[in-house]
Amino acid sequence: MHIMKAIVYKEFGTTDVLQTVEEPKPTIKADQVLVKVKAFSINPMDWKIRKGEMTLMSGSKFPKHTGTDFAGIVEEIGSSVSGLEIGDEVFGVVKNMKDGVSAEYVAVTSSLIWKKPVNISFAQAASIPVVGTAAVTALEKMGDISAQTSILINGATGGFGMFLLQLLKQTGANVTAVTSSRGVAYAKKWGATSVIDYTKENVLSRQAGYDIVVDLSGKTGYENAKKIMKSSALFLNPTPKPIQIPLSFIKNLFTSKKHIVVLSSPSTKYTDTLLEAVRNGLDIEIHKVFPFAQYKEAYQYAEQGGYIGKVVVEVN
Ligand SMILES: NC(=O)c1ccc[n+]([C@@H]2O[C@H](COP(=O)([O-])OP(=O)(O)OC[C@H]3O[C@@H](n4cnc5c(N)ncnc54)[C@H](OP(=O)(O)O)[C@@H]3O)[C@@H](O)[C@H]2O)c1
Repeated sequence: MHIMKAIVYKEFGTTDVLQTVEEPKPTIKADQVLVKVKAFSINPMDWKIRKGEMTLMSGSKFPKHTGTDFAGIVEEIGSSVSGLEIGDEVFGVVKNMKDGVSAEYVAVTSSLIWKKPVNISFAQAASIPVVGTAAVTALEKMGDISAQTSILINGATGGFGMFLLQLLKQTGANVTAVTSSRGVAYAKKWGATSVIDYTKENVLSRQAGYDIVVDLSGKTGYENAKKIMKSSALFLNPTPKPIQIPLSFIKNLFTSKKHIVVLSSPSTKYTDTLLEAVRNGLDIEIHKVFPFAQYKEAYQYAEQGGYIGKVVVEVN
């Protein structure tokens, strides 16, 4: 039996519950591909699941791997898979919150891996699926956008914001980015028309001037944001509580300011849009790469915040 190293946890908790184990290398089904993982990216969802905040979707069965999007090299191909060869450099995602990619090898459904562009690193490719798809989904939810549309992105220079700002740039919209002092130059480079440093100014003290508010910080909330939204503005919420999903649908029938839930699911359609943007120069900023052996430090670092773009763990 072939053995590999993996990062798992056997109970919910802080980074203290993460541990390295040796376990059998996965075997693949006919529609799967075995990938030797070179890098996986860290997403806030990883620690929300690990802390037991998403049990409705993640379940409570242990041990659990962590991590959702990854990049690596094709090692084995299932009998019904076409279009890939052993040795191809790929990136992809596990869609099911019960799975995780924090191991030397991962078995993935072939519809959720794509060839890595040659001009980006494994770390950059591993950073595309989760936040990239979320950004394209948010853009879709915004509907028709013109140069007159005034958009506020709160928390604009993390992973999600980095993609969303650059995708919005192509629309010509008037985008205000809210970030910390270290993110100001990045927000401007990625296309923000104006930037608010949240360490110096409270965005909620502004006038009701926005057609769309996207809260990526998870700290503002719809009720607070209403005061800076125009009368028929949209509030995009990518971190809804389960109850908000049906509730917002009902409440929106009676209010002119709408609460819109953003839930994304990676697919080839979204990835094609993102790969096109990467070909056109979309910048994927990797703030820090940690070696596999330092995965705990990687998660502690990412959870603390204060970084631009993405934090990635490199495997081998
Ligand atoms: N629904 C979906 O499908 C989906 C998909 C992907 C992500 N998400 C969610 O979307 C959110 C953003 O994801 P992400 O990957 O971009 O996370 P991230 O990289 O941690 O970015 C969050 C950003 O918020 C900023 N921030 C923190 N406090 C703030 C404040 N008081 N005011 C303004 N900005 C503040 C942070 O800046 P500093 O670190 O400099 O403080 C950081 O840049 C997360 O909650 C994530 O779980 C949802």
